[in-house]
Amino acid sequence: MMNQEDLLAELSRGAEAVTGVLDNILAETNGHENRVVEAMRYASLAGGKRVRPFLVCATAALFDVEESRALRAAAAVELIHCYSLVHDDLPAMDDDELRRGQPTCHIAFDEATAILAGDALLTKAFEVLADAKTHAEPSIRSALVKVLAKASGHEGMVGGQIIDLYAENHELDVPEITRLQRMKTGALIAVSCDIGALMGEASEEARHYLREYAHDIGLAFQIADDLLDVTGDEAEVGKKTRKDAGAGKATFVSLLGVDKASEQAHMLSQQAQEHLAIFGEKADSLRALATFIVDRRS
Ligand code: IPE
Ligand code: IPE
Ligand code: MG
Ligand code: MG
Ligand code: MG
Repeated sequence: MMNQEDLLAELSRGAEAVTGVLDNILAETNGHENRVVEAMRYASLAGGKRVRPFLVCATAALFDVEESRALRAAAAVELIHCYSLVHDDLPAMDDDELRRGQPTCHIAFDEATAILAGDALLTKAFEVLADAKTHAEPSIRSALVKVLAKASGHEGMVGGQIIDLYAENHELDVPEITRLQRMKTGALIAVSCDIGALMGEASEEARHYLREYAHDIGLAFQIADDLLDVTGDEAEVGKKTRKDAGAGKATFVSLLGVDKASEQAHMLSQQAQEHLAIFGEKADSLRALATFIVDRRS
């Protein structure tokens, strides 16, 4: 068992480490293009819970992957996540002005710069994965690129985002919302675990159980996000709340109500932890993270 206090300490240690890697990856330049680098740094260096990097590192650690390598892969996933947030906040999408407690990228810079910063964060992720510093084995590097591309694109995050827009003015039922959430948020969470497993050349069996775990926490994570939109405090959450209902967005909360949605998230968190039995104590931080995901206040 790992208590939440120890988990928070681990999360913040991991966050600091991955921020250091991102800081190195996103080096400033002397040319006029530095404006986009500034926007990329703005969108990725400050704040964020760094849950996806934590998942990459904690999973890789199950298979004794060198931490410095796992951190590079973790940074790649976080680059994709940060890009998705920059674009998600644009006026054409959620039109938000606050993210991670600071003005959104297009407010701090401008829309065109935010679009380009998102594009460049996205492509940088693959450059990082394809580098030999991330993994010595070329076939594994290409597997990492492939799984991350798939999880990020129309079969994953982007696909979920467009269904999310559709959900603003269409009634979706529970299975449809489940699918939307699994794509929009679950795919990137799931691939974080899969990347750790691939780097560690995990057995098919281990990969399978990690996939089941990730599947459950991915959905629980987005239900918690939707709950925070309704019950959260803007200053604590670091982004505008009470947005989803205003946008007419169908979520688990709009469909089931706060209590049932929260119950569902806790059930998924419990179920997720049961999939980790084969890893024994080594998976304690992953278990604690499943609890954190549904009890978090931001
Ligand atoms: C917010 O993700 C967007 C979703 C996919 C729900 P996080 O809650 O992980 O945001 P940060 O990275 O901590 O800011
Ligand atoms: C965004 O979902 C998920 C992404 C893929 C970026 P939300 O729109 O609910 O995320 P927040 O609430 O703005 O962080
Ligand atoms: Mg959105
Ligand atoms: Mg949003
Ligand atoms: Mg939200």
